[in-house]
Amino acid sequence: VVDIRALYQQSGLFAYDPGFTSTASCRSEITYIDGEAGILLYRGHPIEQLAEKCSFLEVSYLLLNGELPTQKQYDDFVRQVTYHTLLHDQLSYFFQGFRRDAHPMAIMVAVVGALSAFYHDALDIRSKANRDLSAIRIIAKIPTIVAMSYKYSIGLSFMYPRNDLGYVENFMRMMLGNPCEEYHENPVLVKALDRILILHADHEQNASTSTVRLAGSSGANPYACLTSGIACLWGPAHGGANEAVLNMLLEIGDSENISHYLEKAKDKNDPFRLMGFGHRVYKNYDPRAKLMRQTCHEVLDELGLHDDPLFKLALELERIALEDEYFIEKKLYPNVDFYSGIVLRALGIPVNMFTAMFAMGRSVGWIAHWDEMISDPEHKIGRPRQLYTGKTQRDVLSIGERE
Ligand code: ACO
Repeated sequence: VVDIRALYQQSGLFAYDPGFTSTASCRSEITYIDGEAGILLYRGHPIEQLAEKCSFLEVSYLLLNGELPTQKQYDDFVRQVTYHTLLHDQLSYFFQGFRRDAHPMAIMVAVVGALSAFYHDALDIRSKANRDLSAIRIIAKIPTIVAMSYKYSIGLSFMYPRNDLGYVENFMRMMLGNPCEEYHENPVLVKALDRILILHADHEQNASTSTVRLAGSSGANPYACLTSGIACLWGPAHGGANEAVLNMLLEIGDSENISHYLEKAKDKNDPFRLMGFGHRVYKNYDPRAKLMRQTCHEVLDELGLHDDPLFKLALELERIALEDEYFIEKKLYPNVDFYSGIVLRALGIPVNMFTAMFAMGRSVGWIAHWDEMISDPEHKIGRPRQLYTGKTQRDVLSIGERE
């Protein structure tokens, strides 16, 4: 690792690294990825063990505090989160300003940003107590906002949080309500959604987390920073990929069309990419994709959908792609988004809500990184440099002199 900052101070040398392929923007103790080996650790704990033994709220506590909670710490954390699940009544009017067919991510960008208009304590980010309270509010209120965005889009009245239910059960009830009401009582389906949230909870300096850090580096409040993360996540190269994967599978339709789409993905004159494949850091199987594939089996079995044609198509697409020279040579493997859409769809979550579900899981990672940065007394405003490639200095001609 070369300390470019020291080199810059000594000799003015700075690095040109578009896309930050080889630049660390910060030090962090939260998440470790070994992309070559396909290893992902949250605070040192393997993702496989967390997905098996912990709930999303335990993992949230871990990401925020550095250690898994004791039972007492967990109970207290759950109590705090549960206390904050309701939205201020005036915030619920915001939804009426949107068209019913607005994309839920557009609504989330607006409503999450608007939280800073309601909780003025968040503007004083020097207070650790205020920062902790903002983190709790974010974990508590995002599921309510996601569910309300959906209910609004289909013209149904909002369902308010029920504090006697667990975090995921409560969300499923608010989001799905009728006709899938019983889903929040099914432990296999609840566990599946909980696992999706765990797998999406953090992934070190991905585009949206880096965006949150950059926005936060100026001292902006946490809700404003989270909004910038949500906006960044929306893109199809990032969190929008789960939605794009499902649309791609529906478009491919049948396994006999797979080879045609693989050829398109390999054709450099065709902008088509195999969605849910490839990753900036993983040059091996994304460990989250493995867990997600296993979750797919569990959910489809539970719902009696063993023959789900889309899942079969996805498995076949993966099999063929992983035997293809192009994908082998470029080390393109399924990423977390490849199978998550199939699970979400089976749970009754509509395709246009998939990225909002990703945002729900990632919110805790965003706020953990934001807090880690603000807690570091040496953090600086993020200010990348550029390589100027424009015109050299030249005179301004009056409008009549210009050709
Ligand atoms: N299909 C076909 N070819 C691909 C794919 C793909 N999905 N992904 C990468 N490649 C090729 C590129 O064309 C490039 O080929 P080249 O060397 O001949 O030019 C090479 O592999 C390297 O790709 P880059 O785009 O340079 O890799 P980068 O690290 O910048 O991009 C990304 C990573 C954005 C994830 C990319 O693999 C992609 O677009 N995948 C599809 C979208 C997707 O699934 N996104 C979700 C990412 S995970 C997440 O956000 C949770």
